[in-house]
Amino acid sequence: MVNKSGQFKSHFMKIFSNIFFLALLSITAWAQERNAPPEVNYSKYFTAEKKYLVLPVKNGAPKRNVELWVDGINTRFFDIELAEETPDWLAYLDISQWKGKPVELRVDKIKQGSGVFNPIVQSDTDGNDDGLYKEKFRGQFHFSPKRGWTNDPNGLVYYNGEYHLFFQHNPYGRGWGNMSWGHAVSKDLVHWKELDVALHPGPFGPVFSGGAVVDQENTSGLGKPGKPAMVMFFTGARAWSQYLAWSTDGRSFQKLEKAVVPRINKDNRDPKVVWYEPSKQWVMVVYVERAHEQHSMQFLTSPDLKDWTPVSSINGGAGRDGYLFECPEFFQLTVEGSKETKWILTGANSEYAIGNFDGKVFKPETERLNGQRGRDFYAAQTYSNEPKGRRIEIGWWRTHTDREGMNFNQSMSIPLELKLERRTEGLRLIRRPVKELEALRNKTYSYGKMKLKDNSANPLSSLDIELAEIRLEFEPGTAKEVVLNVRGVPVIYNAVKQELTIDGVTASAPLQKGKQKLIIYADRTGLEVFAGDGLLFMPVNINIKPEIRSLSISARGGTASVSDLKVYQLESIWD
Ligand code: FRU
Repeated sequence: MVNKSGQFKSHFMKIFSNIFFLALLSITAWAQERNAPPEVNYSKYFTAEKKYLVLPVKNGAPKRNVELWVDGINTRFFDIELAEETPDWLAYLDISQWKGKPVELRVDKIKQGSGVFNPIVQSDTDGNDDGLYKEKFRGQFHFSPKRGWTNDPNGLVYYNGEYHLFFQHNPYGRGWGNMSWGHAVSKDLVHWKELDVALHPGPFGPVFSGGAVVDQENTSGLGKPGKPAMVMFFTGARAWSQYLAWSTDGRSFQKLEKAVVPRINKDNRDPKVVWYEPSKQWVMVVYVERAHEQHSMQFLTSPDLKDWTPVSSINGGAGRDGYLFECPEFFQLTVEGSKETKWILTGANSEYAIGNFDGKVFKPETERLNGQRGRDFYAAQTYSNEPKGRRIEIGWWRTHTDREGMNFNQSMSIPLELKLERRTEGLRLIRRPVKELEALRNKTYSYGKMKLKDNSANPLSSLDIELAEIRLEFEPGTAKEVVLNVRGVPVIYNAVKQELTIDGVTASAPLQKGKQKLIIYADRTGLEVFAGDGLLFMPVNINIKPEIRSLSISARGGTASVSDLKVYQLESIWD
């Protein structure tokens, strides 16, 4: 038996050795710090000669503040995980507009003697081309930025024969920050070409989310003869005010210096603008936080996109209840099979209300319907000026792509066509993949009608596939479950509860006229699943193991009847 004094001694020894160890650690850290070169502020002039200034990035390195001063103006400012030794990747900043001018590069704190900007590198080409779009975690039919971070889609507008996709973008890091509007264009909503950053932070602060319209009638006077302006609205996140930018060529952008809508109350952001034909006025919906964290959507009207008058406001949830919280979307749809029209109001989480609008006040008839039931689909926006009159939506899909050596992070969803349909549940917003995606099918595997029961052979056993679109129609019959295993991810339909479960996410998927109709798109970054002929949209982000390339379908607890099953092998949009 150990006596009391023995116990005390060993206790004392433990404390003593802990203190000794901690002291040793801090002495070592202190010595390292003493020996480390001091950090100094850096400033150097260079002449802008090429298209880009090249900035080396080391993921996880301490953030440095960089400024570019031209003609005495702080034209670009951002933070960056500056690689003082070997970079993980290179960021590119367009300096072509200052060609021939002296530019002062200021960096707060780099290690004394660091060679990071010795020399300052300029380039005419946007590098990182080696293996671009072929990266392990790069969605192959989802838009993601070449490098850096994206979140919300912004300014979705069809203009001059192109679908424009602006996006919340950090061009200098793969985490959120330095919010700018990145820019990509597409002729078909499927293949995207990324262009230079369209809107950079300015005196108003970072450029947060917003929408865009085409001012066909030149109500703003910003257009040129025969060239209507594309007008974009964004939040300047320093003053929480709404600003306007425009373009008459879809490539170069100008901004009005003064806010068009000064801050109303607390957090104000994400202006969405639509045209209201009966009163021939523009309508803006902007998120406004009220007292006690009450979320609201503020409506304003304007004859010219510049002068805005507040006209009404509608409350959503409060605090963590995300109903009608940030990123408003507001549009009109015709009820399928009728002449009746309704307005839809939604916030970033896609919960929506269906109602009527008189040009000033939105009166909901049905509220808080679920827009989607997946994981991490957020801040969706729809296209204005869509040439076929469709209502097309793209959302931010929080994919897990900042892994290993990737130099980009996050992506957009596939484009979705929205319709308003009367179902047994009532009027509902229906989402389906856009028709244009069919162009990606490069091989079709068709399976006819079949019965599935416990232990039946897997009809898909011969498939070896990466990018896939699967279309399945079945009646569950006596089966309790029908399971489609997509490259190692089980998509489980529980026929008793009429629910779908994928990777721990469960959503109600009621049979429609006794049938279940599933559409599944499988990319490297997850599955986008449509059930009940578009009633349920369930995107589930999950990095699919590259080595698993098989599919299987099975039934449990009874016999299910498959009336149609097709698997399409898809090609990459980047090829
Ligand atoms: C939604 C959001 C917006 C904001 C933007 C900033 O994801 O928080 O409200 O404008 O992201 O990046």
